[in-house]
Amino acid sequence: MSYNDRFIRACRGERTDRVPVWYMRQAGRYDPEYRKIKEKYSLLDICRNPELAAEVTMMPVRKLGVDAAILYSDIMNPVMPLGVKFDIVPNVGPVVEEPIRTKRDIERLRPIDVEGDLPHILETIRILDRELDVPLITFAGAPFTIASYLIEGRPSRRYLRTKSLMYGEPELWQSLMDKLGDMVVTYARAHAAAGGKAFQLFDSWVGALSPRDFERCVLPVIRRIFDELADLDIPKIYFPGVSSGELLPSLKGIKADVIGLDWRVPIREGRRRLGGGYAVQGNLDPAVLTGPMAVIEEQAADIIDQGLEQPGFVFNLGHGLFPEASLDKIAALTEFIHRYSARQLQN
Ligand code: CP3
Repeated sequence: MSYNDRFIRACRGERTDRVPVWYMRQAGRYDPEYRKIKEKYSLLDICRNPELAAEVTMMPVRKLGVDAAILYSDIMNPVMPLGVKFDIVPNVGPVVEEPIRTKRDIERLRPIDVEGDLPHILETIRILDRELDVPLITFAGAPFTIASYLIEGRPSRRYLRTKSLMYGEPELWQSLMDKLGDMVVTYARAHAAAGGKAFQLFDSWVGALSPRDFERCVLPVIRRIFDELADLDIPKIYFPGVSSGELLPSLKGIKADVIGLDWRVPIREGRRRLGGGYAVQGNLDPAVLTGPMAVIEEQAADIIDQGLEQPGFVFNLGHGLFPEASLDKIAALTEFIHRYSARQLQN
């Protein structure tokens, strides 16, 4: 089969014959075959086994017919070489053994050496570069989102300790953002050198900040990350995560190619807030997949119609797939997106 580069072309704002689609968390627990693998291996076991991690990455590409693969990994993987011990606890998420809270804790964070510390991840990328006939997206967690796990020690709703450090010790906060920013840049460069074809920065929880705090405390490091990656000739995606609609106007000028939208902001309005110059990716509410197929298709069609108003649109969900989603419905949705968008593009 020939290589499908629709996803890359859409990220670059080029017209394609149909809208490309992939799903955040497309490798996961909605798939009974994945659940069987998880009976024997933990997430971190799979990540340390390149053959298995590559296989799990490819499963949704075969089963769903998506236009891109996303590396099976976790945003916490590059945290280990910083010198932080953690586990991914089933149905909870990342739990850090000794949360980072003091100046000394932050000073102790080491720079990462991807070849030396995480060779299995680069090997997985190399295998996938040989095997895949769609682009491979690799990713990292953005500084605020990673900091929230490091400081809170576990998933949080209010981010009180994180915000307390941010407001109370701005210099310390800045040094943490700087170190995590360096980690992201080093990690992304190693991915691209190993064969990654696009890079997504997940800032899943930054929507917890006001635009003012985002602009002062987080945007500088986001800007720097994309400035430092500007010479990498792959599409770069910034996903500002849940409830990020009010932050979109602040993103103007960052050197990303694509901005991910959550479902609270319609595609048309998201583009207006960004002020042009970006492809957009999104933004079906993953909960819509619990509804009947007719409702799923109606909502997807509306997103596609808005997406096609300008070049540069990638279909995705507004956040990750739930374990409760049905494989058959996700496959049917993918088929619908391809069929419906091809028809709209012919008119
Ligand atoms: O298919 C894919 O999207 C690729 C794999 C992927 C994982 N994590 C594997 C995983 C990706 C892209 C991530 C990114 C990630 N990890 C994010 C950013 C994306 C987002 O959802 O906003 C975040 C915040 C994390 C941290 C994390 N890891 C959480 C909150 C959880 C969920 C805990 C749970 O059990 O519900 C994890 C665990 C995790 N990472 C799972 C998977 C498939 C689920 C548990 C498992 O199957 O072992």
